[in-house]
Amino acid sequence: MKKATMTLDRAYVISKIDPRIYGSFIEHVGRAVYSGVYEPGHPTADKNGFRGDVIEMVKALKMPLVRYPGGNFVSGFNWEDSIGPREERPKRLDLAWFTTETNEVGLHEFAEWCEKAGAELMYAINLGTRGVDAARNIVEYMNHPAGSQWSDLRIRNGRKEPFGVKLFCLGNEMDGPWQIAHRTAYDYGCVAREAAKAMKWVDPSIELVACGSSNSSMETFGEWELTMLDECYEHVDYVSLHQYYGNPTNDTPGFLARSMNMDDFIHTVSSICDAIKGKKHSKKSVNLSFDEWNVWYHSKEKDEEEWKKARWGRALSLLEDVYNFEDALLVGSMLMTLIRNADRVKIACLAQLVNVIAPIMTRPGAGVWAQTIYWPLMHASIYGRGTSLKPIVDSPVYDCADYEKVPVIDAAATMDDEGNVTIFAVNRDMADDVCLSVDLRSFEKLSLKEHILLHHDDVKAVNTHDNPDNVKPVAGNGGEIDHGVLQIPLKALSWNVIRLVVEG
Ligand code: AHR
Repeated sequence: MKKATMTLDRAYVISKIDPRIYGSFIEHVGRAVYSGVYEPGHPTADKNGFRGDVIEMVKALKMPLVRYPGGNFVSGFNWEDSIGPREERPKRLDLAWFTTETNEVGLHEFAEWCEKAGAELMYAINLGTRGVDAARNIVEYMNHPAGSQWSDLRIRNGRKEPFGVKLFCLGNEMDGPWQIAHRTAYDYGCVAREAAKAMKWVDPSIELVACGSSNSSMETFGEWELTMLDECYEHVDYVSLHQYYGNPTNDTPGFLARSMNMDDFIHTVSSICDAIKGKKHSKKSVNLSFDEWNVWYHSKEKDEEEWKKARWGRALSLLEDVYNFEDALLVGSMLMTLIRNADRVKIACLAQLVNVIAPIMTRPGAGVWAQTIYWPLMHASIYGRGTSLKPIVDSPVYDCADYEKVPVIDAAATMDDEGNVTIFAVNRDMADDVCLSVDLRSFEKLSLKEHILLHHDDVKAVNTHDNPDNVKPVAGNGGEIDHGVLQIPLKALSWNVIRLVVEG
């Protein structure tokens, strides 16, 4: 069997993990909201029309944060359309997704959904077709206690207590030519700065995310961050990163190495933030919000067909990627990349949550099921809390199209306040199991509580409504700890969660 070693030391601390890195995203697109989280008439629907079975699946993820309402959608969205009596809300053409938005689900309903799901609302404002005025008004509507036009309107609309939203995105992907009212980096930096000033004057307790690049392949990547941060650095708290990967050429080893690109992307954006900090002699650091990340490529052709059938329709089946087992492995590696960068990445959102490039799928009038990628997200969110430890890994390597020396074993480790340790590991080897030997001698006596394994013999295996348990975690074979060293075999192509607890 191939061998790899890992040294963990309780003193090799990367950072405390901000639980918000296990967030997700719901946009008004496709069947994410309508016929996803919201389906009045469904047997499990609550008084607002939200499906109870979906909420249960979200709760099982212990999801701390949900970004909303877009995405590209937000750049043409009038937030005022989404408040007040439902029957009076306007229907609008959504130019981002060529569908009709009825505003049947609006701010109040969605905020209540978040409360029920136990997740904080991260709200994106429109810096495409709107600007500073709408931005300050929505903060007043959401967070000001009472006694002003917008806060009193909130109260009249049935919500006495402020929503207390603490995290706002200053627009979405404003570097992308596909964005409604796309801006130059300089223009965006100026409008982000002015919106940020006004929003924080209304509520100084809020935190703000400026739009970074839509992905690391954008021609403007780097220059965009430098230029826009030069304008707004002192007024924002985070810069966003977005990234999706695909495997259109069916190159599994290359695909599984894409998380290394995510790691490079994070380091480059952190360096740019620090360069601007240096240039400005600033005392504050701007951290990162990786607020869209996932695998996304399976559904792209189907979307074109859907639009041909029903341009300006509602609840179209858009962006409905059916995820396979290899996608779950890459999602596992992307989660570990976030954990290992916990010193800079404080927020992250798997894009998205329900039906649209999502871990959770629904069928109207019928059931809900977990896609393959649901499982690593759930494991990381539940067990990846506390402190991120720096794993020193010595692993066999392989070369692929974009990267040389890709480690076969990709790993991250966390320690909770009681000293319990969780190791996450993907074995990227296509054929061979690898025996991982972990030096744990710096910890109190640990014993192996659980080894969770996600594996399927077919990398293209998927879960469906009628076969929801095809790819599902099972108990792994575990390993032995002898004199503080754990020996554990990791199956070829597998996601592993190794839970070690303090004895006694
Ligand atoms: O998540 C789907 C889309 O991907 C979002 O609307 C946009 O921000 C990104 O391009």
